[in-house]
Amino acid sequence: MAGGPREGRSLSLVRPKEISETVLASFQSCEDDRLRELIQALARHLHAFVMEARITEHEWEQAIRVLTETGQITDERRQEFVLWSDAMGVSMLVDALAHPKPAGATESTVRGPFWVPDSPRREYGESIIEQDSGTPTWFYGRVLDTAGQPIAGAELDVWQNGEDRLYAVQDPEAPEEHLRGRFLTRDDGSYGFLGVRPTPYPIPDDGPVGRMLRATGRHPWRPAHIHMIVSASGYEPLTTHVFDARSAYLDSDAVFAVKRSLLRDFVPRSPEDPDRPAAVSGEWYSVENDLVLVAAGGADRPRI
Ligand code: BEZ
Ligand code: FE
Repeated sequence: MAGGPREGRSLSLVRPKEISETVLASFQSCEDDRLRELIQALARHLHAFVMEARITEHEWEQAIRVLTETGQITDERRQEFVLWSDAMGVSMLVDALAHPKPAGATESTVRGPFWVPDSPRREYGESIIEQDSGTPTWFYGRVLDTAGQPIAGAELDVWQNGEDRLYAVQDPEAPEEHLRGRFLTRDDGSYGFLGVRPTPYPIPDDGPVGRMLRATGRHPWRPAHIHMIVSASGYEPLTTHVFDARSAYLDSDAVFAVKRSLLRDFVPRSPEDPDRPAAVSGEWYSVENDLVLVAAGGADRPRI
């Protein structure tokens, strides 16, 4: 008699170990190998967590309340689940597994919640500044392959914050396309655009993740950076940052996303400098940043 008491599981699960083993066994007939592996590993680690920390009924109720609030605060503009993943270092862990880089390739880091699809296409040298937002900065460099050959026609999708700490998507007053844009590299792999020197900023901390940070004595700050997604046909897309090498919080980023190889100097330049971009009248900075992509298919990729 299928499912009957004799052939099914024990009807009196009392010992913790027995409960965990029974739950694991309940997934054994899952026909999708990967799904079975994932759900069993999840159940195993969840049960081990409850056992190791001796979770009380009250604590488990609180955990469920936090998850509920995470869902309630999440909408098109706010993704609190991703923020949990970032603040717990899981985003960087998944990224490290997905993108082991061969020596010399530009390292990846988190995308974060402020990327907006379909940024405006802009010409080489164009400014992404649509309202005053800090000291103008000329970002330039080349997109190369791991053999040092230029990649023409690579797309750089860039976005950043300004001196008020906000990304345009966070600021209803800002022009929608402010401080973001998509650029193509020229035949020699070069790109260049005018942005501003970014500022450190706190990740959104008015929700459950912020409460967790305060309760555990952590701060919400990220060091100053700009974001880039670089893509080119025949290469793995790269999601990365350029960090200001002089920023505060480099050694305590709230989302664990700093990599030494991504730090760059913002070189102070004067208004008299003959290289001054036409749109600049006062002090400015320049930042050189070459980007090295890995060929698609992982031929030059190390295993970890
Ligand atoms: C960001 O850099 O935009 C970001 C990344 C993770 C969490 C919050 C913000
Ligand atoms: Fe950011």
